[in-house]
Amino acid sequence: MTPQSSGGIKFSNGMNIPVELHKVRVVQKLHLKPVEERYEAIEKGGYNTFQLNTNDIFLDMLTDSGTNAMSDNQVASMLRSDDAYAGSQSFYRMEQAVRDVFGKKWVLPVHQGRAAENIISQTFISKGDVIPMNYHFTTTMAHMELNGGKVFEIYTDEALKIKSDVLFKGNIDTVKLEALIDQYGPEKVPFIRMEASTNLIGGQPFSIQNMMEVKAIADKYGIMMVLDASLIGENAWFIKQREEEFKNAPVSEILLTMCGMADIVYFSSRKVSSTRGGGIATNSEELYMKMRDLVVLFEGFTTYGGMSVREIEAMAVGLYETTDETVISQSPSFIEYTVNELDKLGIPVIMPAGALGCHIDAMGFLPHVPQKEYPAGALAAALYLVSGIRGMERGTISSIRDENGNDILADVELLRLAFPRRVFTLSQTMFVIDRVQWLHKNRELVGGLEFVEEPAVLRFFNGKLKPTSDWPQKLMAKFREDFGNSL
Ligand code: F0G
Repeated sequence: MTPQSSGGIKFSNGMNIPVELHKVRVVQKLHLKPVEERYEAIEKGGYNTFQLNTNDIFLDMLTDSGTNAMSDNQVASMLRSDDAYAGSQSFYRMEQAVRDVFGKKWVLPVHQGRAAENIISQTFISKGDVIPMNYHFTTTMAHMELNGGKVFEIYTDEALKIKSDVLFKGNIDTVKLEALIDQYGPEKVPFIRMEASTNLIGGQPFSIQNMMEVKAIADKYGIMMVLDASLIGENAWFIKQREEEFKNAPVSEILLTMCGMADIVYFSSRKVSSTRGGGIATNSEELYMKMRDLVVLFEGFTTYGGMSVREIEAMAVGLYETTDETVISQSPSFIEYTVNELDKLGIPVIMPAGALGCHIDAMGFLPHVPQKEYPAGALAAALYLVSGIRGMERGTISSIRDENGNDILADVELLRLAFPRRVFTLSQTMFVIDRVQWLHKNRELVGGLEFVEEPAVLRFFNGKLKPTSDWPQKLMAKFREDFGNSL
């Protein structure tokens, strides 16, 4: 394994192949429908892949959120869950898992990651505050702004480059960070947020070295550190692969080192432990007490926080499994394989490969589609049409409008093809590569999109769009020409 490899097993031809280190015991039938039916489905869904029904989808690569495959031990644990409104043993087992895996004593359960963001934002952010971070996440920014805060992304110059050799594009630029704190004054900065495997810039990790530098600045100014640990397993895996000092460290130790630098660790369990739900963890009783009553108000009692006890049990097991390299390396190894194969074909993808998914650069893929016509959204719709693969737009549609109603164009315009853990096989991955390649060859046929229905908040979820011309029909005709009657 080379230091930059994300896993897989070395074959005799020298290639790292992402061999599945698990066996399939429960399966779900998939639906590969004719292109004409997919056309009807995407039309009905307003060219927004969030609006599709999984009945019309072949490979669902929308997200890893709540879609990672659970382990046999997780499913088994759900049977012993303890139904109780208060004081459930399931909660105490989960609390112990958070203590063991993240090293945090006080745990507040919440129904999912954004609920943690709501509670943290309401508790610590006041009007006029500034919150520095490596990069925003959609729901994070929405909650912070709702509470009067302003998000500042203090990424390094490499972070937004599509193709780069820098192994930690999720790092914070410490010089810019200090300048920002000096500019606004530390009293205006309630905390610094670091997001593990920085989602919106392509699942890019930060290094322990960088986190230590950021922590030193936080300590110097007396500012709290908040860690979004939703994708911490993969970030820890990348640290082991890419940060020399940690190449022999167990992942469990890397996780404890990362969490040890944060005053508050919050997470979406939909990601980190392959279940549902989420949590907020801290070693400070004072911080815990500040947040506790909001959990009761918005989530549920402090020993279930809006989750079912079954989920809490599976979450405990899933958190322990986050320390298992065969679990956390699975998705990065498939992503790396896909990214390398697409790169060889001349298709613009975010490099180095990150966590969560393979990220295709839609502006590089569709240079003829202006950014105001949402190239990443158009690419997501086009790929679904020609393959039944559902990806997610992570570009300007996922952004917002300014006070004059103009789109704030996204820094990067990405089509994300998520690899939920242990869900897809290598032949399915090869199908993805093949259809993306076909679409790339026929990319001039793909046009733009425009909104017809636009929600005011998080518009990418429920918004409806339409094509700016009859390009979907032309693309469909070309598909039939090349593939005949095949699906
Ligand atoms: N933080 C990060 C880094 C995330 O990726 C997500 C969700 C959240 C917070 C919010 O958690 O969904 O449980 O409320 N990411 C999903 C995705 C939705 O598809 O990337 P949630």
